Amino acid sequence: MSEFRLTQISDTHLSRRLPSLTHNFERVSEHIDASRPDIVINSGDLAFDGPTSPDDLEFARTLHAALQAPCRYLPGNHDIGDNPTIVGPPPSQPVTERDCQRFMSVFGEDRWSFDAAGWHFIGLNSMVMNTGLGREAEQFDWLASQLAGANTKPVALFLHKPLFLNSPDDPELAATSIRYVPMPARARLVQMLGSVDLRLVASGHVHQRRDYTLGSVRYIWAPSAGFVISDKRQEVIGIKEVGLVEYRFQPDSFEVRHVKVPGQVDIDMDSLLR
Ligand SMILES: [Fe+2]
Ligand SMILES: [Fe+2]
Repeated sequence: MSEFRLTQISDTHLSRRLPSLTHNFERVSEHIDASRPDIVINSGDLAFDGPTSPDDLEFARTLHAALQAPCRYLPGNHDIGDNPTIVGPPPSQPVTERDCQRFMSVFGEDRWSFDAAGWHFIGLNSMVMNTGLGREAEQFDWLASQLAGANTKPVALFLHKPLFLNSPDDPELAATSIRYVPMPARARLVQMLGSVDLRLVASGHVHQRRDYTLGSVRYIWAPSAGFVISDKRQEVIGIKEVGLVEYRFQPDSFEVRHVKVPGQVDIDMDSLLR
């Protein structure tokens, strides 16, 4: 296969009780039906609130199963709980082994890899980082073997949380520590990724679209497919809109297309909480 077409969706936050988000997902589904990518990756927050409402995970799974493309999934904080950080308060819903197992029973593995069009693709469970769970150490061991096996292939990494705001050296601030892969796991991850030809880091979580390049790595923040967060709740970093991201990978290169699907509505999170 000389070209591999990948569609990244993120932060669908699906729940039977929130039909407006299902409406946005149906527009995405129609677009995927028409464009037929080789794979769809949902980079996390599939469910509106999986830890307290497991049915949200089941509902999200049912809707994804109907997509006209193979899918891979990564967990977000609204699927399995959030990371502990060394600067901010403990998360109200910390990641637990039970919630990881529940996610996997519905969506399959919480980390994965595959090769296509001369690239090595890796998906990581960013939520388990800094938890001290056995699953965190296992994932780092698994990642080391994946990176060793990449040889000279360009690597594309997918995960729920962005690695950082602008650079690996950004200070970790209490107010935004839950927005990025927390220290010290971030430093370890960045160091490990230095051993391969990393070209792309694709994340979700922030509900803002962003696209920038640092050195030889392009960082893509996929927007939420479901809703945006108002300026009074969250600073503006990128573009606040709903949508998705399309990629075309060819040996040694790739293209990115930022898409807002016809009919997708910029729902404000505040309207969901009323
Ligand atoms: Fe989200
Ligand atoms: Fe998230």
